[in-house]
This record gives sequence, C-alpha cells and structure tokens, in this order.
Amino acid sequence: RRLAVLISGAGTNLQALIDAQNTSSLPNTRIVLVLSNRKNARGLIRASTALPPIPTAYLGLQPFIKSNPGKTREDYDVEVARIVLRAKPDAVVCAGWMHIVSEGFLDVFKGTRVLEGEELLAREVPVINIHPALFGQFDGAHAIERGFEAFQKGEVDELGVMVHRVVKEVDRGEPLIQRRVEVVKGEAIEAYEGRLHKVEWEIIVEATRIVLDEVQPPLSSDGSS
Ligand code: GRF
Repeated sequence: RRLAVLISGAGTNLQALIDAQNTSSLPNTRIVLVLSNRKNARGLIRASTALPPIPTAYLGLQPFIKSNPGKTREDYDVEVARIVLRAKPDAVVCAGWMHIVSEGFLDVFKGTRVLEGEELLAREVPVINIHPALFGQFDGAHAIERGFEAFQKGEVDELGVMVHRVVKEVDRGEPLIQRRVEVVKGEAIEAYEGRLHKVEWEIIVEATRIVLDEVQPPLSSDGSS
C-alpha cells in the first residue's frame, strides 16, 4: 500500500510513519512520496535519509506564484495534487501541512475532478490530517497555543488531538481517532506539547492504518488478501 505524506516542518509525525511502515503497525505499506511546501523542512531530510530513501518533492506557494506569472493559489493546489497523484498513493496524509487543503485538491482525490493529462482515478483516495485539538475545539492555526491558554484560563476542561478526514471546512472532517491529552494547571506549555506530540505519533499511525485497511486490506501472512 502506497502512502503520500504532505509536510511543512520538523516531520516528527512523518518519522512515526517512516518507523511504522512495513511493521505490524502498518503492514505492507510504503511511503512513496514526501512533499513539502517549505524548502528547509527537516522532514525532507528525514525522508531522504530513510532506508531505503523516500522520494521527496518541494513546492512552495510564493516561489510557484512568482515564477509562473498569472497563476493563482488554486493553480498551486492543482500542481501539488498533480505531483501527489503521480506517486499513485492509496492514501494521502497531511502531517503538519500548513496550507488549507482546497476543495479543488480534494476533488482530485475523490475522483470527481480529472486533471488535464492525468488518468482517471480507479477509486477514491482518502486524505487525512492531524490536528492538535479535539473535534470542534480549536480549528485552524496555533491550536496548541490557543488550547493551552484556554485551559489555563479555565475556559475548557480538556484538550487533545485528532486525526480526521479532510473536508473543505478547515479541521471539520469526520474524526478517525481522537485522544485526550493530559494537561496540568500552571505547567509550561512545552511540557504539555511534549505529551501531545507523543500521542500524535501514535494516532497518526493508527488512523493511517484505518484508511489504508478500508481501501486495501493488508495481505495476510500466507499471501492471500
Ligand atoms: C503537529 O503538532 C501537528 O498536529 C501540527 O503541526 C505539527 C507538525 O509537527 N498541525 P511535525 O512536523 O510532524 O513534527
């Protein structure tokens, strides 16, 4: 089973997927592409130094628009979709991808939009995302900081993380897994963040497995499916 991963930063969630690929956590699974919108994303190094190395791609929004006069954000999303599509993934994981995933991008993986020059999709390719908040709590950017502050002010009494299916409404897709993360009044945000990331690394692998099992169950040990 083939996985494409979209990143923007450190890539610790990507690392969890790299470590899990082809183990009992993610059997018969290979990351076939890591795409970043930031050139210096550490996750790109994690991919290229993995054994065997994982193919990488970089496409930054501003450089794309600057070097293609007249092109828009929508064209950028199409270009990202095209690169991902060509890797023929069975699932796409946004693992700290700091762009909003547009409807045009999602339609390509639903199979309702065929890009010029590309083949028709045989079946829908699920697109999932990790978000460091519980469903409906802190949609959008800086969710960790916003959540932590709200907890410290007593505005919420629990925090957590989720992996959800991506829909055009930011962070509003059906959660595949949600997990609460312990948070302590008066602690430093770094302490909370450390615990949160550890939970992220578990659930990103579990949720990826759920969607991959839906599209293509792993081969059993005797080779039958
Ligand atoms: C994670 O906390 C994720 O939930 C958020 O961005 C962070 C990415 O971290 N959206 P990393 O690049 O996987 O280390």
